[in-house]
Amino acid sequence: MSLYGRLLKEGAGRDALFIAIGGGTVGDSIGFLASTYLRGVDWVGVPTTLLAQVDSSIGGKTGVNHSEGKNLIGSFYQPKAVICETSFLKTLSSRELISGWGEIIKYAMISDWKWVKRLESIFVERKIEDLSLLTEATLRAVRLKAERVSRDEFDRKQIREALNFGHTFGHALESLTGYQYFQHGEAVIWGMRFAIILSQIRKKLSLERANVLDQVLRGMVVPPIPVTLSFEAVEKKMLRDKKVRNGKLNFVLLQELPQKNQVRVYSDSQVTPKNLREAFEKIMRTPQ
Ligand SMILES: NC(=O)c1ccc[n+]([C@@H]2O[C@H](COP(=O)([O-])OP(=O)(O)OC[C@H]3O[C@@H](n4cnc5c(N)ncnc54)[C@H](O)[C@@H]3O)[C@@H](O)[C@H]2O)c1
Ligand SMILES: [Zn+2]
Repeated sequence: MSLYGRLLKEGAGRDALFIAIGGGTVGDSIGFLASTYLRGVDWVGVPTTLLAQVDSSIGGKTGVNHSEGKNLIGSFYQPKAVICETSFLKTLSSRELISGWGEIIKYAMISDWKWVKRLESIFVERKIEDLSLLTEATLRAVRLKAERVSRDEFDRKQIREALNFGHTFGHALESLTGYQYFQHGEAVIWGMRFAIILSQIRKKLSLERANVLDQVLRGMVVPPIPVTLSFEAVEKKMLRDKKVRNGKLNFVLLQELPQKNQVRVYSDSQVTPKNLREAFEKIMRTPQ
């Protein structure tokens, strides 16, 4: 609120241009500020973290978190431009890099099995800081997200839904740990591991394929899920997810297409509380 006051006091008018230089937190909040200040002024995003370059800067979702849940206060408000300069990434900590790679793995898993296999070898060779690989992965991720977003700008036609892979459980983890414990992409890594287990419980993925996918994710070292988290608390949070329609969770899961050696992403509205509990118990037992 004080920022609005300062801008008003300094007489920033409708012709102001806000430039958000920083990670996703800066982009989301400056974008939200731009969308609400004087009912909307122009803004440009200059994402400086890997996560912001591959994910949060694209798509026009702006907003701030609330203790009741993730991104509950926000708007759709596209920036005039996004400038991705990959040399910013040189100063990121490995935790920040892993968080961004989490979203890159998501893009691979929802779109291209060959890309998943390639990532597996990149992680085995521990090349997560390689700038040319980061540039290539960023370009692919941005293209994929921009293509989905441009067909469903306001997230109403379920075209963007696939991008939510790993986010239902991931958002619940972030919220239950007060947004302080996990980086966004770290929670999404756990979220994808959960969705893979659930896909297998729903008999859409074979154990073998699920293990290959999980192996890629296990290549990323992330903080463990606190053992104090209860299933009831996680389930309650997941049911508050924005993807709940008519009281039913639509879980973005993976399905094996044996004939093409591919996996495809789909939305499952038949996930039962029993399925969720089974997946939760399994993930809490899984090596962390
Ligand atoms: N709008 C969307 O569609 C969308 C999508 C995904 C995530 N998000 C949001 O994005 C936020 C997370 O973004 P984030 O992961 O970028 O975290 P962040 O913005 O909190 O940045 C993480 C840390 O990196 C530092 N940092 C930024 N750039 C740096 C650089 N070049 N070198 C060294 N340090 C640098 C920051 O100061 C901060 O301490 C979350 O709030 C999440 O909800 C939004
Ligand atoms: Zn995300």
